[in-house]
Amino acid sequence: MIEEMLNYASINKVPIIDKESLSFITKLIKEKNIKSILELGSAIGYSAINFARINENITITTIERDTIRYNEAVKNINKFKLENRINLINDDIFNVNIIDNYDLIFIDAAKSQNEKFLNKFKNNLNENGIIIIDNLSFHGLVGKSSEIKGKNLRSLVKKIENFLEYLNNQNEFKVEIVKVGDTLCVLEKIQKNI
Ligand SMILES: C[S@@+](CC[C@H](N)C(=O)[O-])C[C@H]1O[C@@H](n2cnc3c(N)ncnc32)[C@H](O)[C@@H]1O
Repeated sequence: MIEEMLNYASINKVPIIDKESLSFITKLIKEKNIKSILELGSAIGYSAINFARINENITITTIERDTIRYNEAVKNINKFKLENRINLINDDIFNVNIIDNYDLIFIDAAKSQNEKFLNKFKNNLNENGIIIIDNLSFHGLVGKSSEIKGKNLRSLVKKIENFLEYLNNQNEFKVEIVKVGDTLCVLEKIQKNI
């Protein structure tokens, strides 16, 4: 069934997490005993299903605006009988208000909006929770925006570069850039001594 999802993603050009990043996050979920996950960007449910299968104590809320992908994700989640542990929301992330807190927030939606997503949901992180953001290398283009000819792609890559600069200049989170897959970033809240 996992193979079917991979085939569907490949045929329909749905971007999903790469193998190395998935195994890195899986390891972190196990090490940190993560039980609750908020995912921004479900696509067809591939990453959410893989996370939920790590162990049966894990619950996930995941948001996807594209209705075709959302419907495919619903089908996949049902096939794996994970509908009780994966709560799938079909809406734009900016329309969704979340009141719960999570051990992990996985930001994997529009790559130009990372800063807004982070600021919208950072207060939904549990005290010792982590935030992971994917595709910070954007297929090797980050750092080379000035060489990109196409205006849209250049602007997108520039936004990721600006986001990395933003992360470097803030002091709320400890930032770890992890060069696996398309480059991940792991944020942990800096504990303030009162
Ligand atoms: C990289 S894919 C997610 C892949 C998925 N996490 C996985 O690894 O299986 C990003 C998804 O985010 C969705 N997306 C982007 N911006 C969004 C927004 N503002 N609200 C809701 N979904 C969004 C896109 O439609 C796309 O399906």
